[in-house]
Amino acid sequence: CSKEGASTVKVLKVGTDAGFAPFEFQDEKSKEYVGFDMDLIKALGKQMGYEVQIQNMNFDGLIPGLEVNSIDAVASGMTITEARKQKVNFTKPYYQAGLTIVVKNDNNAIKNFKDLEGKKIAVQIGTTGAAEAKKIKDAQVREFNNAPEAFMELKAGGVDAVVNDKPVNEYYIAQSGSKDAKTVGEPLQAEEYGIAVAKKNTELAGKLDKALDELKKNGEYEKIYVKWFGK
Ligand code: ARG
Repeated sequence: CSKEGASTVKVLKVGTDAGFAPFEFQDEKSKEYVGFDMDLIKALGKQMGYEVQIQNMNFDGLIPGLEVNSIDAVASGMTITEARKQKVNFTKPYYQAGLTIVVKNDNNAIKNFKDLEGKKIAVQIGTTGAAEAKKIKDAQVREFNNAPEAFMELKAGGVDAVVNDKPVNEYYIAQSGSKDAKTVGEPLQAEEYGIAVAKKNTELAGKLDKALDELKKNGEYEKIYVKWFGK
């Protein structure tokens, strides 16, 4: 029997690491995955006529997941980098970010990336923050499965600093960390987030780009942006 026809619901399997508020995190009450990326990918799916199914996984498993086709797309605050472009296709950028530093409130010795030389730094495995921290002279870099664990290690005093994406650092401090921690440093470099799809899936990347343009034109993107980041 045919699976074609008007009643067919196309499913878009989307991988994310839902420990990255406000982009993706689990709502404590509803247990749903929420955040800017989650709203955006659902809106994109709707625009394209797909039902979006979210799969929560480790960040460093997302690109392998695309490569073995267990997921169709990644919406996970993933920075578009040259190294990743060798393995996957990215959509156009949908968000501008950059890396900053989180230290304890009473730390006045670390004010910028230069001050991290010789220091203990916590990062999330597989991220741009991890890659940049490893370039810092004499730094001892400790890699954690997710960003919340890196923040916990800072709180516990196991490291001097966390290097991670600026909007996530700011959200962490605003939501729960302001008694213990603060962000310092100008963003190390501009980073842009894109949605990733498998290398051979240029068709899906094209559809996502088109839908993203449409959401920017019809005001939907703006609505989602304001919901999570304010004006
Ligand atoms: N933007 C950084 C990167 O691409 C960190 C992304 C981490 N995302 C997440 N959902 N944990 O490497």
